Amino acid sequence: MNLFNRPVAQFKTESGKEILIFRPTLDRLPILLRFTNRLIAEDTYLNLTGRAKTYQEEESWLRGTLADIKSKKSLYFWAVSDGKIVGSVSVNHGYERSWHVGKIGLMVDRDFRRDGIGTKLLEFILKEAQDFEIKMATLEVFKENFPAIKLYKKFDFRVYGRLPGGLFRKGKFSDTIEMYKKLD
Ligand SMILES: CC(C)(COP(=O)(O)OP(=O)(O)OC[C@H]1O[C@@H](n2cnc3c(N)ncnc32)[C@H](O)[C@@H]1OP(=O)(O)O)[C@@H](O)C(=O)NCCC(=O)NCCS
Repeated sequence: MNLFNRPVAQFKTESGKEILIFRPTLDRLPILLRFTNRLIAEDTYLNLTGRAKTYQEEESWLRGTLADIKSKKSLYFWAVSDGKIVGSVSVNHGYERSWHVGKIGLMVDRDFRRDGIGTKLLEFILKEAQDFEIKMATLEVFKENFPAIKLYKKFDFRVYGRLPGGLFRKGKFSDTIEMYKKLD
């Protein structure tokens, strides 16, 4: 059953799955919580780590995000398959003099990877970002996150920085790689 309505876009994955893209809404919190906690349990290359989020924590995060969307600081979308969130993508404006710089966030559920969803979500957010007065997209990625780095390089993101030991995962420090892409 699909609990959502009015997708803003849709596409088929390489294997033929139907994916709908939706703006986030508070009433879908349980489905978001499931997606988030699967990523936390996986302990992948994200800041999502540690114990599972509670309903209240996720609600507080989503309310903050919805407020940022309302005040036009952020864009955030869900990729949905069969009523489940299987991916998300976001872009956040920088402050004041960096308003034209947008920071990207991208994640796909482990059971849905290597099927073109990451590519479609990135394409989608880069187009949306341009309509959102963003002239340059940036992101941060773990040095060992080869799948993500490969994906970003395919989109012509370039490395502009590296913070040695900037990230900590599974008992080890790792470098933060910073990448950017001009959107003009
Ligand atoms: C990175 C991520 C978003 C990619 O999403 P995805 O839906 O699997 O990506 P796609 O299927 O569109 O793959 C696009 C390209 O990325 C690269 N790629 C993706 N997964 C890869 C893997 N496991 N190994 C090597 N390359 C990979 C490939 O170049 C691939 O193109 P190809 O299949 O034609 O070779 C996904 O792996 C993910 O969510 N990982 C965990 C969270 C994360 O790391 N987010 C990024 C934080 S900066």
